[in-house]
Amino acid sequence: MYLSDVPREINRLQNQVDRMWPKERRNLVGLGLKDGMSVLEFASGPGFFTERLATLVPNGSITCVEPEPALVKHATEYLKGRVGCRYEILQTTGEAMELKDNSFDFVVARIVYQFLRDPALVTQKLARYLKPGGTLIITDYDAEIPPITEPPQPEARAILAKAMSVGAQMGANLLVGRRLWNFLKNAGLTELDLDAVVFHSGTEGVRSCLPQIDPTRLEPLVKAGALTEAEMKTLRSSVDSLVTSKDAFYFRVVLMASGRKPLA
Ligand SMILES: C[S@@+](CC[C@H](N)C(=O)[O-])C[C@H]1O[C@@H](n2cnc3c(N)ncnc32)[C@H](O)[C@@H]1O
Repeated sequence: MYLSDVPREINRLQNQVDRMWPKERRNLVGLGLKDGMSVLEFASGPGFFTERLATLVPNGSITCVEPEPALVKHATEYLKGRVGCRYEILQTTGEAMELKDNSFDFVVARIVYQFLRDPALVTQKLARYLKPGGTLIITDYDAEIPPITEPPQPEARAILAKAMSVGAQMGANLLVGRRLWNFLKNAGLTELDLDAVVFHSGTEGVRSCLPQIDPTRLEPLVKAGALTEAEMKTLRSSVDSLVTSKDAFYFRVVLMASGRKPLA
C-alpha cells in the first residue's frame, strides 16, 4: 500500500510540486514541451503537477494514469475549473494500462519509478505510446544521494537510512535513480540525458520544507516494529533543532532522465 495517511501525503506532494515546478518547467520546455502537444502523465497522483503541466499546453491535451482511488478522486475534484486544456484521468496501474501506440508527444513519469514492480517493462510500454520523435522524462530519487542539512544531522541520517532499508524490504526501489538511464536506453530511446533539480529551503527557509522532513509519515514503521519510539523522538528533535538553527538549510537532489523515440 503506497498511502497510509492520505491528507498528509497530498499536502507533501503539493509542497513538492510548488517548490520544484519552476525548475522542472525550465527542463520540460528545454526538452521541447510546447503548446498543442499531447502529454501522458504517468502516475499523476493528486493532480498538482497536472495543473502545472496544463499551463504549458493550453491548446493540447493531458492523459493522466493513476491507480490510487483516493488520489484519482482528489485530482478529479481539484482539477475541475483549474485546467484549460483537454484532459482525462484513467484509473489503472502502469502494469495494467493499455494505451494506443504512437500517440503522445511527451510522457512524464514523476516520482513513481521507485514503486514499480517491473520498471523496465513499464518503460517499454511508455516508449511504445510515444510518437516517433516524442520525449519520455522520468523524475526520481536515488537514496544514496540523501537529503543534506546544515547543520549536519548524522543521528537522524542513520535512522532515516534504517527506515529506507525497511522501505526497500517492502518493495520500494530507493536506488532507482541510477537505473533510469538504462531503462530508457533498453527501451530503444536515444538522445538520452540525465539532469537534476535541487529542491531546497532557499529564501523561504527550512520551515517551507516541513512537509518533506516531518517524520510523522514514518509512524507506521513504529507500529510495524521497524523503528523504535526512541528513534522517532530523535527524528522529531532533529527537525526541531534544524528549524530553529540560525543557519539552517535543507536540500535534496532529484534526478530527471530523458530520452527521445527515434523517428521511424
Ligand atoms: C510520490 S507519488 C507522485 C505523484 C505525482 N506524480 C506527483 O509527482 O505529485 C507516487 C505516485 O505513484 C503512483 N503509483 C504507485 N505505484 C504505481 C504503479 N504500479 N503504476 C502507476 N502508478 C503508481 C501512486 O499512486 C502515486 O500517485
